[in-house]
Amino acid sequence: MEQIVVTGGRALGGSVQVCGAKNAVLKHLVAMLLAPGEHRLDNVPGIADVDIMCRVLEHIGASARRDGSRLTVHIPDDLRPEAPIELVRKMRASILVLGALLARAGEARVALPGGDDFGSRPIDMHLDGLEALGATFELRHGVLHAAAPGGLRGTEVTLEFPSVGATENVLFGAVMAQGTTVISNAAREPEIADLAAALSSMGARIDGAGTSTMQIHGVGEMAPMDHRVVPDRLEAGTYLIAGAITGGEVTVERCVPSHLRMELRKLEEAGCEIETGDDWVRLAGPERPQAVGFSTLPYPGFHTDMHPQMVALLSVAEGTSVITENIYEARFRYVGELNRLGADVTLEGQHVLIRGVEALSGCPVDACDIRAGAAMVLAGLRAEGYTEVANANHIDRGYQRFVPNLEALGADIRRETVEA
Ligand code: UD1
Repeated sequence: MEQIVVTGGRALGGSVQVCGAKNAVLKHLVAMLLAPGEHRLDNVPGIADVDIMCRVLEHIGASARRDGSRLTVHIPDDLRPEAPIELVRKMRASILVLGALLARAGEARVALPGGDDFGSRPIDMHLDGLEALGATFELRHGVLHAAAPGGLRGTEVTLEFPSVGATENVLFGAVMAQGTTVISNAAREPEIADLAAALSSMGARIDGAGTSTMQIHGVGEMAPMDHRVVPDRLEAGTYLIAGAITGGEVTVERCVPSHLRMELRKLEEAGCEIETGDDWVRLAGPERPQAVGFSTLPYPGFHTDMHPQMVALLSVAEGTSVITENIYEARFRYVGELNRLGADVTLEGQHVLIRGVEALSGCPVDACDIRAGAAMVLAGLRAEGYTEVANANHIDRGYQRFVPNLEALGADIRRETVEA
């Protein structure tokens, strides 16, 4: 078992560069299925989830080659249109192949993901949207068999909620459908806009990406992609909070500051000084942060994937903060771990009440998922003594070089392999 050991108490200082966004690159890889040939993607992060998505593509028949942060993927003419349960269980985003395989092969067999750490997480909106485009579904032995016997046809799809994944699956189905598709109440995340840019580099015709109404005019065929992945705003935000929680000064480079508008606003309210340039953000943390309140919401609201890191920061704030988690019903496993470090966090339904304490004290904790794991490391940077964060492999799913980057910023941190 991999664990990260942090000795708290050092103020971080210096610069760190972020990689391409996990939540964009995974979708770009799926988009490649839409066209045979040699695809090229730059600024690809070296994270475990990219490896898993490459395995999904390889199962379907593709071959992938990595050279530093460039990934070259060959998509063959004939595909095996399926995603097996081993891979879907490892990474839910595997279900996004549904729309792309329906579009390209007219059929797909995708194992249903079931629940996970964040609650039940259904995919009803994905299926409703693809059904409206002409797909049919049948569930047999845990595998969803999808078909589009008459091909996919453009239509109007109104999402009940601006789901990121449902928007993407419908988008995949729509780019080569006959006619025009309008997605209303579409997700507006920067990663969706970046996916639309990647698809456009393949020949897709998409208007309104990054807004609530997307119009997709189906095209007969697509060409291979050549695209550079948008910077990871979650990685950027996590390093900024590392600066904030240690009262240090951290500059995050190669990011898009406007993608973090709400998160930066809340960090300023917490007492951080923030300066931004074209592609960098500098943050100077206060000795002790102030309590702030926020609700997680779809973009441009406060990102749910920054919620645990922000609660780690607010756990040492002066005053009491209340935050509301609106995206997931069960993103709270990290709360018990944070309280082991001496935080005073209680749950009331979807509301998190954080009574700021003066100090945290290090102890063994668990990285329950990617962001919760990052939050534990951040809390450990502030805590007195050692904090051992177990199951660090969760963090590897979303952060490239997390430990070396924090070390370069001055953290006393190391990674070790221990007997489970
Ligand atoms: C993506 C991100 C994830 C992020 C989330 C919200 C990736 C790989 N993952 O996940 O890191 O936290 O966006 O920004 O990009 N829902 C339904 N029915 C559906 C679809 C979704 O009820 O058919 C619910 C989900 O259970 C969840 C909420 O809607 O409670 C938001 O989900 P969604 O926006 O779809 O997130 P993902 O695309 O799964």
